[in-house]
Amino acid sequence: MLTPDSPTERVARTLTSDFPTVSHSIPMLSLENSYDENDLNDFDTRIKELTGKTAIEYCVEPKFDGSSIAIIYENDLLVRAATRGDGIQGDEITNNARRMKSVPLSAKFSALGIYRVELRGEVVINKKTFAKINEKREEEGLQILQNPRNSAAGTLRVKDSIEVEKRGLEAFMYQMAYAVDKDGNDMFNTTLLNKHFNNINQLGTLGFKIPNQEKKLCKSIAEVHAFIQSWEEKRDDYEYEIDGMVIKVNDIDLQKECGATSHHPRWAIAYKFKAREVETELLDVEYQVGRTGAITPVAKVKPVFVGGVTVSSISLHNEDIIREKDIRIGDVVVVQRAGDVIPYIDRVVLPKRKENSEPFIFTRECPSCQQPIVKPAEEAVYRCVNAECKAQAEERLIHFVSKDAMDIDGFGRETVSSFYKEGILMSIPEIYSLDFDRIGKLEGWKEKSINKLRDGITKSKEQPLWRLVNGLGVRHIGTQTAKDLVKTINNLKELFEVTPEQLQSIEGIGPKVASSVLDYFHNAGNQHMILELEEKGLNLKNQKVEQQSAKLNNLTFLFTGSLTRFTRDEAKELVESNGGKLISSVSKNLHYLVAGENAGSKLDKAKALGTVNIIDEEAFLNMIK
Ligand code: IVH
Repeated sequence: MLTPDSPTERVARTLTSDFPTVSHSIPMLSLENSYDENDLNDFDTRIKELTGKTAIEYCVEPKFDGSSIAIIYENDLLVRAATRGDGIQGDEITNNARRMKSVPLSAKFSALGIYRVELRGEVVINKKTFAKINEKREEEGLQILQNPRNSAAGTLRVKDSIEVEKRGLEAFMYQMAYAVDKDGNDMFNTTLLNKHFNNINQLGTLGFKIPNQEKKLCKSIAEVHAFIQSWEEKRDDYEYEIDGMVIKVNDIDLQKECGATSHHPRWAIAYKFKAREVETELLDVEYQVGRTGAITPVAKVKPVFVGGVTVSSISLHNEDIIREKDIRIGDVVVVQRAGDVIPYIDRVVLPKRKENSEPFIFTRECPSCQQPIVKPAEEAVYRCVNAECKAQAEERLIHFVSKDAMDIDGFGRETVSSFYKEGILMSIPEIYSLDFDRIGKLEGWKEKSINKLRDGITKSKEQPLWRLVNGLGVRHIGTQTAKDLVKTINNLKELFEVTPEQLQSIEGIGPKVASSVLDYFHNAGNQHMILELEEKGLNLKNQKVEQQSAKLNNLTFLFTGSLTRFTRDEAKELVESNGGKLISSVSKNLHYLVAGENAGSKLDKAKALGTVNIIDEEAFLNMIK
C-alpha cells in the first residue's frame, strides 16, 4: 500500500500551481531584539519578576538566518507544512517540505505518546551549497541568488518541488509549538516534554535536524553572555548563516507564566550580532568579459571594510539586478558581506541620492572588442559572441591554469595576462611549448620563478581528466559537470563521437549541457587542439580509482563530524578503492557510520535506527589495513 511516507512519495515530482492559505493554530510570533549585555540583564530581570524565581535556566541557540516553517505530524506522519506568512496565516507548502532531506516523512512520535504535534523551524541553505548553486547558475546564465536567506524563502514557494531538492534546502527545528495525545491532552504538562532543551533533543533522536553542539543550557545570564560571545567569534566559520542567538526560558511551565505580547513571546529574546553591512559610494561601473563571453558589470566603490575585508570591487552580476535595485553611479549603497558569502550591494540609500542622478544605462557593446553584445531570451546575462574577442581568449587561458582546472603551480591571472599582452601565449596548447628564454627577459622573471613555472606545467600534464575537461572552458561545464562527464568515458577522444542520447543518459547532465558538450567536441578546431595537447604529452585517459582490495565489497559507508585522520575526499577514495560505496544519508541501507568529533544529527539518527555500525576513524582504518 502506498502510505504518505512511502519512499516513492518523496520521489514523485509535484507541480504545484498555487499554495493554499492556511491558518496557524498558534500564531507564529517574532522575537524581541537585544544588542548588548545590558539588554540581556534587563531581560533576565524581567523574567525573574514575571515568574517570581531567583534563578532561571536558559537555552541558548543560534538564530538561523533563513525562512520559518511550521510542520504538523499526526499519527507519526507529516500531514501539513506551512510558511510563516504574516504569523497568523501562511502558505501551505507540504509538497515542497517533503523534498527536504532533513524533514522526515514520518517520525515515531507515538513512542512518546504524542498523537499530534506542531514543530517550528528555520529553513536554511548551507553556505557551501549556496555558493555551488550560484556557481552553476552563473555557468548556465541564470539569475544568481543574492543570499542564503532569500533563496531559502524563495525556494519554499517554487512550483516545481524538484527544485527544493536541487537547491539543498534543510530545516533546523527550534520549537515544539504544541503536542497532544490521542485524547487531545496537552503533553507539555508531562515531565517528558516540559523542558524546551530536551524537546529539541528528542526531535534529534526522531531524525530531525536540530542545533546540537550549537545550543547550550545556561544556569545564569552571565553564562548566556559568554556563550553568545563565543558564537559571535566563530559564526563566520559555521556552515550556516546565523544573524544572532536566541535565548529561551527552558521550563515550558515558566514560559506559559511569562506569556506573550501580540508581537513576541516574553520568555524568549533574540541577541543580534553586529551587522556586517556598511555604506559606501558607488564610483563607477566597469564591465568584465568572461571566458564564455558573459559581460559582467562590476561596481567600483569607495573602499570599505566589511565582514573582515576591504572591498572596492563588487560584482553586480547583470543588468536586471542593477535595474531592480535602481543602482546609479554616485549613489550611496549598502554593502553586505556575510561570512564567506561574496560581498554584494544590498540596496541604495535613497534619501542620500544626489538630485542630478540618472538611471544607469547598461552597455550594448563588448568593452574589449566593441562588437554588439546579445542576450539569449531565457538568460540573465549579455554575451559577446565574437569568436575572435581577445578578452575571452585571455580569460580562457586564465581559466585553464586556475585552481579549479589544471591548477598549474606558478601560473596565475597576472602571469597569463602579461604573457598574453607580450604575445608569448595566445592559445592553450602554447602553454606546453612556452619560450622560456623570452620569458627570462621579462621583468620580474628569474631562474627560480621560471623553474617553478616549468615544473608546474610539466606536472599538470598528469592531472586527472576532469581538470582538463573543466579547463577547456566548454559552456555550462564546471567542476561538478566535468566530473560527471568523465565518469562515463575512458578517453577524452571518445567525446569526438559521442551522441546526444549517450550524453543525456549521464546523471547530472541535462539537454542544455549535452548540446553544449556536443557542439564543443564535434567541432573540428577543438578536436585539433585536443590532439595537439595529446601530442604535447597531456593525459587524455581517465584514470579511474584503482581497486586496492575487496575488503569493503558490498558495504556502505557514511562519514560525519569533523575528521582528523583524513579528509572527506581521502575517505571517499579509501572506501571506493577498497570496494565499498559511499551513501549520503542514514538509513537501513547504511552499514557503517564513521563518526568524527562533534558528530551531530546523523549520529543520533544512526543510534536511533539501531541497525548501523557506528565506528570511529581508527576503527575504519583498521578495516582496510
Ligand atoms: S524561536 C515563539 N528560535 O527568528 C518563538 N526563532 O525574529 C519564536 N529564528 O520568525 C521563534 N532561529 O524564524 C526561534 N533558534 C531559533 C530561531 C528562530 C531563527 C527565526 C524565526 C522567527 C524569527 C524571529
